Amino acid sequence: MAIVAPSLLAADFLKLEETCKMLNESEADWFHLDVMDGRFVPNISFGPMIIEFIRKTTKKICDVHLMIVEPEKYTETFKKVGADHLTVHIEACPHLHRNIQQIKSLGMKAGVAINPHTPVNSLIDIIQDIDQVVLMTVNPGFGGQEFIPHSLTKIRELRKLISNWNLPVDIVIDGGVTVENASDIIAAGANVLVAGSTVFKAHDPKAVIAQLKKL
Ligand code: DX5
Ligand code: ZN
Repeated sequence: MAIVAPSLLAADFLKLEETCKMLNESEADWFHLDVMDGRFVPNISFGPMIIEFIRKTTKKICDVHLMIVEPEKYTETFKKVGADHLTVHIEACPHLHRNIQQIKSLGMKAGVAINPHTPVNSLIDIIQDIDQVVLMTVNPGFGGQEFIPHSLTKIRELRKLISNWNLPVDIVIDGGVTVENASDIIAAGANVLVAGSTVFKAHDPKAVIAQLKKL
């Protein structure tokens, strides 16, 4: 059974409290929270202040995906506001190993995200130090884009890498996940599904979450 992590980027922020309550009552495992800085990605979303409010509403895991440059400047802040997982982008971090050590030293789980054009083998020298890989299956910056089909090959490669070394690393798929393509994604070797539009644009988000959990 996959871990399901709804991405609040697609939620109605005027109804944030209601949304968090709905997610708490649902079978969702994690809250996926997308932070964008308008520099690493061409969009700006929300930051620690909003996450602090969300944190107060839930005991579920807060999985924070940083799409920002210089994440080291904010690592402590995200810890303070209650992030459980902190993921940084390989493309944004010239000193990735240091970033990962900083995240772990603060007691958070550490993730590395890779963009669609970044090869899986670029993870070889960091994979043993991390808890999760966020494999981007759209170009980061916006919700509601279509899953890039070549990603399935990357998921298989990543699963092979992780199994070869017998590592307890989660494979998180982020972007364009739907009820229709989720079984192929899981069959390719992923174990965490991030879903934004699929959950929040649905009439019955809880039912969609339950459907994803059943796959
Ligand atoms: C994209 C974000 C995703 C986004 C996914 O840059 O990292 O988490 O919210 O949205 P959907 O599921 O709509 O593709
Ligand atoms: Zn994300």
